[in-house]
Formats: sequence, structure tokens, C-alpha cells
Amino acid sequence: MAKILIADDNEGLREVLLELVQGLGHEAVGVADGCAAREALCAGDFDLLLTDLRMPKLDGLSLLRELDGLGQGVDTIVMTAHGSVGSAVEAMHLGALDYVEKPFPLGAMEAKIQKALERRQLARQNTALRRELAQRYGSVIGASPPMQRVFSLIEKVSQADTPVLLLGESGTGKELVAREIHERSARAGGPFVTVNCAALAESLLESELFGHEAGSFTGATGMRRGKFELAEGGTVFLDELGEISLSTQVKLLRFLQEKEIERVGGDRVIKVDARVVAATNRDLKAMVERGEFREDFFYRINVINIELPPLRARLEDVPLLVEALLERHQKATGLSGRVSDEVLALLRIYEWPGNVRELENVLERALVLAESGPDGVRRITPDTLPPEVFGGEGDPESRKQYHEVTGLMAQIERIEREIIRKALEENDWNQTRAAKALKLKRSSLQYKMKKYELSKPK
Ligand SMILES: Nc1ncnc2c1ncn2[C@@H]1O[C@H](COP(=O)(O)OP(=O)(O)OP(=O)(O)O)[C@@H](O)[C@H]1O
Ligand SMILES: [Mg+2]
Repeated sequence: MAKILIADDNEGLREVLLELVQGLGHEAVGVADGCAAREALCAGDFDLLLTDLRMPKLDGLSLLRELDGLGQGVDTIVMTAHGSVGSAVEAMHLGALDYVEKPFPLGAMEAKIQKALERRQLARQNTALRRELAQRYGSVIGASPPMQRVFSLIEKVSQADTPVLLLGESGTGKELVAREIHERSARAGGPFVTVNCAALAESLLESELFGHEAGSFTGATGMRRGKFELAEGGTVFLDELGEISLSTQVKLLRFLQEKEIERVGGDRVIKVDARVVAATNRDLKAMVERGEFREDFFYRINVINIELPPLRARLEDVPLLVEALLERHQKATGLSGRVSDEVLALLRIYEWPGNVRELENVLERALVLAESGPDGVRRITPDTLPPEVFGGEGDPESRKQYHEVTGLMAQIERIEREIIRKALEENDWNQTRAAKALKLKRSSLQYKMKKYELSKPK
């Protein structure tokens, strides 16, 4: 439902238009002159203005000009008297969307209204989309500059078919990004197959990656396809690549160069079409220098790398992440929670050695410990945080920061309480007037009065 303002000094026409707009299922307000229109537009959030040009007090063109100057530009359809198309053109220059010449059939006006509202709806969706894009990229969340760089790299590598190396500390989202790359690539219809290279001993890992023929080693009773074969047409995600032995690296290098593998214990060359995305939290370059990682393999796998920033380098993303992680948690478990401002402040100064995964764990723990409010939403308060985040323990520096923050919150609250108390006093404890003076909704004022235990002295 849209909200439409109708400005015309002709009462008959105003009534007809009011009826038309209401009949279309929208909210309509009518005014008889330009000044009243200006006032209404500044006070309420109208989606569309239908205005006459010749009106008492303030004519339509002056109204458009003023509103533009006030930054209150609103989508407008002007209604002009027969034969004054010149002013209609001027109105269009002042930003009006469209005009109709009086007298007009109601059907023509209806069509113009529909068109204007559709256009507005589209524009809204576009801004929402753009905002969405800036704060998340698929499932990867972050609005900070380092994450924006990550998003644009994901976008680029998704369109290529070269190997990608993801670097970053534990819990920074390497696996999440690997999936996102796959989902956005031309291989999205194919499988995404993960191999944790740290989890298996060398011989088992090779059989896991490349498969084995029957009888190739003790226990290998039947033939088994490896992850590469299973990833045909899709992506293989090699997690913890830094843990791979030198001899397995040779076999991976062969795959990267020739797109060929051999099953363990076999001698048949098998062509495989799979893309490799790898991840590590180790410094491969240093490992190359120490002779622990093959140089030729390093250059092959490191064609493009994406470095995921640690959370401490993008603390401004914490509020966004908290919101998204709580929402995700609610979908999974039904438990909903909300963090207090003080908690948010604490989460924004913590070091996060375990990055987003640690934040996820901290929130889950807090939800379990938190008390439920009357609305069933759990209140995450500082005492539900683990000591290292709460700052009760830990190194002196983070303890100092903690006390600075809580001290600050307490000060802000003291000041807020005083401002509200004064406004109430000055308005004889009339809540409606005090709320107006404070530019608060009456309900917010009441909430704050309760919070600060403010009430009219007896
Ligand atoms: N930018 C992000 N937006 C949303 N969720 C994230 C983000 N980064 C990480 N996560 C979440 O944090 C958790 C850890 O992410 P992930 O497993 O991808 O990290 P990782 O870098 O692979 O860590 P490790 O090196 O320990 O394997 C996951 O639940 C993931 O969904
Ligand atoms: Mg991982």
C-alpha cells in the first residue's frame, strides 16, 4: 500500500481523486493549497504527490522548487489546466515524473499512478539490492574495505577456471569462500568435493584423492574412485594444503599440469575435469624456502590467491556478523537472541584469535546462558560472555579497554537519564510533550523511563 498526497483547490476533483486512490487500495490525503501540501510532505512519508499547478498560497511550481531545496523531493504527477503545457514542461524540469492535462479521464490518471508506483518500487528494490551486495556476498558477510576486496576477487576468480589458493587464519571463512567460488562458477551444477589434507596419513590421503585399484594395498579389497574422479565437472577443495607431503605434491602437480591422475596401484591414466581450490593457514612461501613445500607446485597452485582478513582487522563488521549469525542460529535451533549495546561494544574490542568461528561459538554459548525476555527473545548480557571476551580475565591491555568501554557506557547512560529527566520536568511530566521535545516516540520515552526508573515525583 502506498501513501499518496493530493493537492488541488478544486474540492470536487480532490474528492474524485481521493476516491480513485483509495479504490486502488492506497492511502490518500487531500489538501487544498500549496502550503498545506508542503507541510504534509515534510511531516509524512508520502510515496507520490498529485498536484495542481495553480493553487492558492503556494503554486505547484514553487512547491516543487521548495521541496527540492528541502531535500524532500517526492515523485510527482502534475495536473495542468488545458493549454498550459509550458508550465508542465517546467514542472518536469523541476523533477516531476509526469503530467496530465485537465480535464482528464480517470483511467488515464489511474495508469499514471500505477506506473509511478511501479517505478518507485523498482528503485527501492535496486537500493536494497545494492545495500545487500555491500554487506554480504552470497553467504559471506562483511561490509569493511578488506571484505569488499575479497568480494571483488571472488567475483573475478569465479569466472576463471584456474586454481585458487585461499589464505587466512583459522576461522576466517576459507571453506565458506571456497563454496561461494564454486557456486558462482560455471561448475556450480557439478559437485563440490572437500578433502581435508591434514586428517589422513600420506598413503591414505593419496588413495582418498586419487582412488585405488583392487588389491593395491592390504585392505583394499575393491576398486575405489578418489575425490578427484568424484569431482568430475565440479570443484575439489583441498583444505589444509600445507600439510601435504612432498611426494603427494608431485601427484597434485601432475594433475594441475595435465589434468590427469592415476589410481593408487593402477597404471591407467584417467583424465579428470575438475577445478582445484585450496586453502591453508600456513606460510607456504616460507615452507618452500625451508624445503618443506615444492617450489614448482607452489607456483602452480598460487596462480591466484585470496587472503581472508582476520576478524580483528575488520572489527567494524562485528555488528553485521552478530546479526547474521544470530539469525542463522535461530533458523537452525529456533533460539532467538539479542545483544545489548554493551555486549556489542565488548565484542568490538576483542582480539578474536579464532576469528568468525570463535564469534559463532561465543554467541552460541551466550544464548544458552542468557535469560529470556517477556517476548521470548534471549538477552545476551556481558555476564553470558566467556571471561576472555568479558575482560574479567585476560591480559591487562584488554582488561583496561574493557573498563574504558563499560565506563563509557555508564557515563552515556547517566547523561541520557539526566536529559530525559529534565525534559520531563520542563513539560510537567507530560509524556507526549516531553517525547516531542526529545524527538522520541512516546513508546521509546516510556521504555527509557522504565529503564532509568524515572517517574513523576509525588
Ligand atoms: N565472512 C563470513 N561471513 C559469515 N560467516 C562466516 C564468515 N567467515 C566465517 N564464517 C563462519 O565461520 C565459521 C568458520 O568458517 P570456515 O570453516 O569457512 O573457516 P576456515 O577459514 O575454513 O577455518 P579453518 O582454517 O579453521 O578450517 C563457519 O561457520 C562460517 O560459516
Ligand atoms: Mg576450514
